[in-house]
Amino acid sequence: MPLDMVIGAQWGDEGKGRVVDLLSANSHLVARVNGGDNAGHTVTVGEETYKLHLIPSGIIHPSTIGVMGTGMVINPFTLVEEIEMLRKAGIEISPDRLWISDAAHLITPLHRLLDRAKDAALGAAQIGTTGRGIGPAYTDKAARRGLRAGEILDAEHFASRVRDHLQEGNRQLVEWYGQPATDIEGMAEDFLNKAAELRPYIRRIGPLVKSALDADQSVLVEGAQGTLLDIEQGTYPFVTSSFTVAGGVPNALGIGLYPARRIIGVVKAFQTRVGAGPFPTELDGAIAGHLRGTGENPWDEFGTTTGRPRRVGWLDLVLLRYTHEVNGFSELFITKLDVLSGLDEIQVCTRYRRRGRELETLDFSGDARLLDECEPMYEILPGWNADLRGCRSWDDLPKAAQAYIRFIEQRIGIRAAYISVGPERTDLLIGA
Ligand code: GDP
Ligand code: IMO
Ligand code: MG
Repeated sequence: MPLDMVIGAQWGDEGKGRVVDLLSANSHLVARVNGGDNAGHTVTVGEETYKLHLIPSGIIHPSTIGVMGTGMVINPFTLVEEIEMLRKAGIEISPDRLWISDAAHLITPLHRLLDRAKDAALGAAQIGTTGRGIGPAYTDKAARRGLRAGEILDAEHFASRVRDHLQEGNRQLVEWYGQPATDIEGMAEDFLNKAAELRPYIRRIGPLVKSALDADQSVLVEGAQGTLLDIEQGTYPFVTSSFTVAGGVPNALGIGLYPARRIIGVVKAFQTRVGAGPFPTELDGAIAGHLRGTGENPWDEFGTTTGRPRRVGWLDLVLLRYTHEVNGFSELFITKLDVLSGLDEIQVCTRYRRRGRELETLDFSGDARLLDECEPMYEILPGWNADLRGCRSWDDLPKAAQAYIRFIEQRIGIRAAYISVGPERTDLLIGA
């Protein structure tokens, strides 16, 4: 009855897509549970690179079923586009192998307009959202006026709900944000037509997931975003609007308090963040350029969803300790170790200094204002020059790279089960 979870241990973009691709080869179900098309998960298989925003990355393996859980917010336009993109790439998508929870919420074009208007109106306090309508859709969910996927199945009821929603959203856009009014009728028609295409995929997923687990079939959860973007545990208010942590998963699948076998924390060998918010170990200058890349490699640090250059910095073990505490990782999967090659020395933040005290873990729940007061304290480790892309076992790694991994394991107190050294499926080794 294995339930395994892949959870981002930083601010997102840790490489969850490639981890799910690896671990889902033998999974029966692969489930996204939170977020929407703010996520961008990359999987590279030989010459092919897939960028997935909504459909679980595990769908690339022909024997899996992709599940889109209750906690998600789904934009029908993006989803239909993604289904078509996958079909063109020869990946079969049918209602037999893609299930959408009837309780997942929907994102409309008005949610997108509101997202952008709202973030722009914040001026200097902008979150730097992905502009995908995520916040407004979860706002409607919490305000008990959201549109749920199951409502699509009752066409007349749904059409009236959509029109009411668009009218209310339009009013907010004009009155609150001084934006021009939109053509609601045209928008309603396009949205209703697109949403209708999802009808065959919508179902109640809880019992299906539960019966797979009861039948000893394996279920893999693909977390989106990262723990530090969690609405409760993240660096509030510079967070996304959903849960991103392991604790939210069982409810988003509707399976009760089901124990996870593995909770795999995916952590990049350094730190990145897109959008605004505190980032104690942030770098600029030559080392930042080394970590970010110039954009010529597909794995360089430019957003999968928005193309924005990602902010980069040294690995922050205070934050990793914190994300381990709030998730209870069973193991780590460390990605992009290869990117550190060529640095003379590598710094790792192991403590903060805040208000005259030293901290090894946060003594507050991720609060952006308090995190801003933290000054990182570093330990310095030797770098290495060798290109790691060909390494396939622990013994292939240079001693300094081994020492870097050991340092992380010892300071966090858990094992690095896997280490990746390139974006492709096979650019990988198992920890020692
Ligand atoms: P996700 O949102 O967590 O799935 O991560 P993204 O796909 O947004 O960003 C991770 C990027 O790093 C993608 O371009 C991956 O192809 C790439 N990547 C993943 N693992 C490695 C690795 O070990 N080395 C290198 N060089 N690139 C990697
Ligand atoms: P994956 O799944 C990195 C960030 C945005 C912004 C904040 C709020 O690819 O790791 P939102 O649009 O969600 O309201 O934006 O969250 N953000 C991500 N950053 N990776 C992601 O997803 C992200 N999804 C949202 O940049 O700072
Ligand atoms: Mg991403």
